[in-house]
Amino acid sequence: MDSIEEYIVEHIDSEPDLLKQMYRDAQVKLLHGGMSSGHLQGRLLKMFVQMIRPSRVLEIGTYTGYSALCIAEGLGGNASLDTIEIDDEMEDIIRDNFSRSSYSDKIKLIIGDANDVVLQYDDSTFDLIFMDGNKRDYLQLYEKILPKTKQGGFIIADNTLWHGKVVEELKSNDWQTKGILEFNDNLKSDDRVEKVILPVRDGLTLIRKK
Ligand SMILES: C[S@@+](CC[C@H](N)C(=O)[O-])C[C@H]1O[C@@H](n2cnc3c(N)ncnc32)[C@H](O)[C@@H]1O
Repeated sequence: MDSIEEYIVEHIDSEPDLLKQMYRDAQVKLLHGGMSSGHLQGRLLKMFVQMIRPSRVLEIGTYTGYSALCIAEGLGGNASLDTIEIDDEMEDIIRDNFSRSSYSDKIKLIIGDANDVVLQYDDSTFDLIFMDGNKRDYLQLYEKILPKTKQGGFIIADNTLWHGKVVEELKSNDWQTKGILEFNDNLKSDDRVEKVILPVRDGLTLIRKK
């Protein structure tokens, strides 16, 4: 963590204990712990949810459930979150984490490939979609979720600056950076939406469907 991020997290709402523990466990026990949202992004997601006040939210890429719990924390009365995770080996960890939270009744976990699962929803179902799955198929997935987003609704795409690799020389076998570049370049000329990139953590693109 650099000193600015340290300063930020010292001056924003604290990270709830369960999330702190989940984040620590991910770093210690899991292979790719860095994939988890953390203190700043988690508080930001909750704040976005409180600003947008969605009824239905979809998340693609649950991992340990950190971001799902932050989204759920911001949800009002009857609002709900569906979260899709392709890795069935994460299911027990996710369910255990959810069971320790008071927001678990707002969340439905779906184990499956988001590329298939999203097609089962009616068009214009979601007020907010948090896109955080495989960077290789961001554009393909975006094209599938845009119709599922309500007019005036939002998509938040994570990791769109991809550790700064978007401005570095591209290696021919770097399919994740290719996926992010393809997504960012296409989004720029997509007139169906408004978009802005926030340089928070690994880059968050806020997209509003016109
Ligand atoms: C960056 S992690 C998600 C982190 C989590 N959203 C958070 O912020 O704490 C990405 C997750 O997406 C999952 N994933 C990748 N491709 C997917 C797909 N096609 N459908 C559903 N989940 C997918 C991966 O298994 C991984 O757990």
